[in-house]
Amino acid sequence: MRTEYCGNLNKDFIGKDVTLTGWVNRRRDHGGVIFLDLRDKKGLCQIVINPENNDAFKIGEKVRSEFVLQVTGQVIARDDSLVNNKIQTGEIEVVADSINILNESKPIPFQIDATDTSEEVRLKYRYLDLRRDEMQKRLRLRSKVTHFMREFMHENDFLDIETPFLTKATPEGARDYLVPSRTHPGTFFALPQSPQLFKQLLMMSGMERYYQIVKCFRDEDLRADRQPEFTQLDIETSFMSEQEIMDMMEDMIRKLFKSTIDVELPEKFPVISYADAMSLYGVDRPDMRIPMQMTSIDDLMKNVDFKVFSGPAQDDSSRVAAMLVPGGAKLSRKNIDDYTNYVSIYGAKGLAYIKMNEDGPASPILKFIGDEVTQKVIEATGANTGDLIFFGADKTKIVNEALGNLREKIAVDLDLFESKWAPIWVVDFPMFEKTDEGGFTAIHHPFTSPNVDADTLKKDPESSLSRAYDMVINGSEVGGGSIRIHESEMQKTVLEILGIDDEEANEKFGFLLNALEYGCPPHGGIAFGLDRLVMILTESTSIRDVIAFPKTQTAACLLTDAPAGVPRKILRELNIKTTSESK
Ligand code: AMO
Ligand code: AMP
Repeated sequence: MRTEYCGNLNKDFIGKDVTLTGWVNRRRDHGGVIFLDLRDKKGLCQIVINPENNDAFKIGEKVRSEFVLQVTGQVIARDDSLVNNKIQTGEIEVVADSINILNESKPIPFQIDATDTSEEVRLKYRYLDLRRDEMQKRLRLRSKVTHFMREFMHENDFLDIETPFLTKATPEGARDYLVPSRTHPGTFFALPQSPQLFKQLLMMSGMERYYQIVKCFRDEDLRADRQPEFTQLDIETSFMSEQEIMDMMEDMIRKLFKSTIDVELPEKFPVISYADAMSLYGVDRPDMRIPMQMTSIDDLMKNVDFKVFSGPAQDDSSRVAAMLVPGGAKLSRKNIDDYTNYVSIYGAKGLAYIKMNEDGPASPILKFIGDEVTQKVIEATGANTGDLIFFGADKTKIVNEALGNLREKIAVDLDLFESKWAPIWVVDFPMFEKTDEGGFTAIHHPFTSPNVDADTLKKDPESSLSRAYDMVINGSEVGGGSIRIHESEMQKTVLEILGIDDEEANEKFGFLLNALEYGCPPHGGIAFGLDRLVMILTESTSIRDVIAFPKTQTAACLLTDAPAGVPRKILRELNIKTTSESK
C-alpha cells in the first residue's frame, strides 16, 4: 500500500513520486492551500494539497485528525524559509497528487501529541496514547532490549523454557493472584510470583542453563516502579559460582546499555555489602550518583547532655547518624522545616542540623552537645564552610529510612548528582529478618543458600549471611538473585527457622524437597525486572510508561475495565460465592 515511510523521507527523495500511508497528525488550512502532517511509525511528513488539484482538495477539506490516509505525490524541496530542522523530513514536503481515505476517525478525546493529557484519559484510550512518538520510542526500545537479551542468552547456551502460569504459590513475599479451578471444586491455582521453583526444578532436570522472559504476578502495594503483573528476565544456571554469575550478568548489562542507548557503564561494577549500604546510605539499593553519605557518630554522642542523642547512642537497636549536605548552609529555615516534615513520614521525631556558616558552626543543638563534640562531628563528616550536617537519632530502622530517603530528596532538590549512571552490586545480605511476632522471614526467598553450615545457621540465624546479590542502577533494584540451597537437609533447616514445619513444608513444596533428594546440582540464578530496566534506559519516571497496557495504582485496567464482575452462573460453576456484590 505504500512505497516509503513518511518519517524516512529526506532531500534524497526530491523529485521522486511516493505513496505514503498514515494518520493525520494535524491539518492546517492556509486559505487556499491545505497542509497535513501525515504520521506513521517512522515519523511525520508534510503533505501539501493545492486547490488546483480539485479531487485531492475536496478530500483535504474533509479530513480531520487521526483519519487514516493513503497519499500519492511528488517529494519537493521546501522553501528555505519554511525548513524545519527539528524533524528529519523538515527540508521536504510531498505535493499530493491523489488522496485516498482508508478510514475516518471520530473527533479524538485529546490531541495525540499534547503533553498535558491526564494519565487517566491516556490509559482509557491507550491505543491513542500509544500513537504518541514518545510511547512509540519507549516500546521500540523495550523490544530492542528483549531482542538483545534473547540473543545474549542464546549465544551463552541458555535454553528458553516456559514454566506454568497456573500453579501453586511461589513465595516471593507478596500476596498471590488466585484462579479458581472448575474441575477441582473449592481449590485455586496461584499465578506465579516468579518461576523460582520451576527454574530450580529445571536445574534438577539437567538443563544447566535456563532463561525466560516471563510475566510474574504479585498482589502488593503498588508504587511508581511496581506493577501487579510485570516482566522478568529470569535466569538459572548449574555449576556456576556467584562470582561467575555476577560477571556474566554484568557483561550482559554493560553490553545492553552500549547496544541500546550507547552508554558505556564502568568496566567493573562496585560491590558493597548490605551492612555498609544500610549504614552509609540507609537503604539496600543505594543511588551511587549521589555523593552524600551517613556517618555513624554513636561513640561521640554517648555521653552528651542531650537525651535525644545520648539515648539512641547507648541503645544497641538505635543509632545516631550525621549526614553532610554539600553546600547545604544555604538552606533556609523553611527548607529545613520542610525536610523535618518530610522525615516525619518515616517516623523521625526531628531533624537536628548544624550549619557551617562563614563565622563558624551554627545550630540550636550546639549548646547541648558542646564545642568539643561539635568539632569532632565536623571532622568525622568532613564538613566545610558552606555545608550543612543533618542528624538522625532513633531506632536504627527509623534513622536509616529517614536519612536514606532524605538523601535522595535533597539530591534532587539541590541537583547533587555526580554522575549519570551508577550501577552497583549489593551482597552479603542477612539470611533472615525478625518479624514483629518474633519469628523470622527470609530476606530473599527461602531457597537462598546461606554462606554458613546448617549448625551455625541454626545457632545464630540472625547474624548469618546469604549468598544473594542484587544489582542496583541509579538507586533502583533492577535484579536480584542468589546461589540456592541444593541439599535437602539445609533446605529443611531453613524452613524450620522460618517456622514452617515438615507437614506444611511437604504440602507447600514437597515436590521441590523430593527433587533435592535425587542428585541436585549446585545452582544459582538471578532475575532482572525488565520494566525497571527499560524505565532506566528510557529515563521514564513511571513504570506505566514502558508497559503497553499497564494497570493503575489500584491494580485496575482503565481500558478494559478489568477486574470485572462475573455472572452468577459462572461463579456457580466455579463453586464460588462472593461476599461483596460485584458490579
Ligand atoms: P525479586 O523478587 O527480587 O526476585 O524480583 C526480581 C526483580 O524483579 C523486579 N520486580 C518488579 N518489577 C515491577 N513490579 C514489581 N511488582 C516487581 N517486583 C520485582 C525487580 C527485582 O529486582 N525469584 C527471584 C529471583 C532469583 O532469585 O533468581 C525474584 O523474583 O527489578
Ligand atoms: P528539641 O530539643 O526537641 O527542640 O530538639 C532540638 C533539635 O533536635 C531540633 O532541631 C529537632 O528537630 C532535633 N531533633 C529532635 N529529635 C530528634 C531526633 N530523634 N533525631 C534527630 N533530630 C532530632
